[in-house]
Amino acid sequence: MADLVIQEEKIIERILTMELVRVTERAAVSSARWRGRGDEKAADQAAVDAMRRELNRLPIDGTIVIGEGERDETPMLFIGEKVGTRTGPRVDIAVDPLEGTTLCAKDMPGSIAVMAMAEAGSLLNAPDVYMQKIAIGPGYPAGVVDLDASPEDNINALARAKGVKVRDIGVLIMDRPRHQDLIAACRRAGASIRLISDGDVAGVIFTTQPEKTGVDLYLGSGGAAEGVLAAGAVRCVGGQMQGRLILDTPSKVERARKMGVTDPRKKYDMNELASGDVIVCATGVTDGPLLSGVRFNSNNVIETETVIYRSVTGTVRKIHAEHREMAKFRLD
Ligand code: FBP
Repeated sequence: MADLVIQEEKIIERILTMELVRVTERAAVSSARWRGRGDEKAADQAAVDAMRRELNRLPIDGTIVIGEGERDETPMLFIGEKVGTRTGPRVDIAVDPLEGTTLCAKDMPGSIAVMAMAEAGSLLNAPDVYMQKIAIGPGYPAGVVDLDASPEDNINALARAKGVKVRDIGVLIMDRPRHQDLIAACRRAGASIRLISDGDVAGVIFTTQPEKTGVDLYLGSGGAAEGVLAAGAVRCVGGQMQGRLILDTPSKVERARKMGVTDPRKKYDMNELASGDVIVCATGVTDGPLLSGVRFNSNNVIETETVIYRSVTGTVRKIHAEHREMAKFRLD
């Protein structure tokens, strides 16, 4: 019976899962050539060019729903751009060709090339605004934490559910002035806080492997696009996530409305951020707790590490690849 359900839901051909790996691998390798060079724009452009090239080789009728920006702001991978050969299934595509551009430019840990593919109409069309987010990993009762509860209540509830002391709960927050009160509240509660300078797609995903990352709970606000990308991965492993767009000016409310957001205060569950059959794929650009960065070896081999999440089956694959042609002919 379970198999039947999967068959019915299986809109996206399984084989496309592997095709996404090529897309993020190429974007990662291209941007990794700019690692540590202090040029965020060039690193991002290299990732965008490579990702677009690879996406256009895929047998899909794809539409970018989350991309580099709106059509008049960006020449490539803009929201509404069509990608793929237009021969396969109709799919939504969310991309962040270089998540953590500053991390890459400074050669700091945690930058990744990341994208998601989902059946048409199933990814939240998020405008370029902040999203308030909360996320935890798998194994907890539904609703143990909530976006609208206080940080103290969430931390205490999580500690109880995990059966540990509050001081053993790790909370990840982006290190930003806007989070000053949040950080103070978490400290008062007694939790341990990991501050990151950038890269909250990975930050949210860290909660899915607390034994490896030391992160049980993500709190705070980051990019809305990053929230949608992370939601697919959290869903895949049975974690929990909620998000709310921060639409604090009339112009943001209006931009969101044009993208289909009718309730500007809506609290989205992860199933609403990324519903149906969602595949999320990320390749490391610089080293990080979940993925190694690209290695350019002296023997003309480039190594990459990629993780792919597929929500409909809950499968997580990690792929370590050695690229020879790419190294020989600089095919990235
Ligand atoms: P970029 O890759 O676009 O530089 O984004 C990095 C990032 O740290 C995201 O991970 C995060 O969601 C967002 O920026 C936070 O935005 P801000 O830097 O404005 O707080």
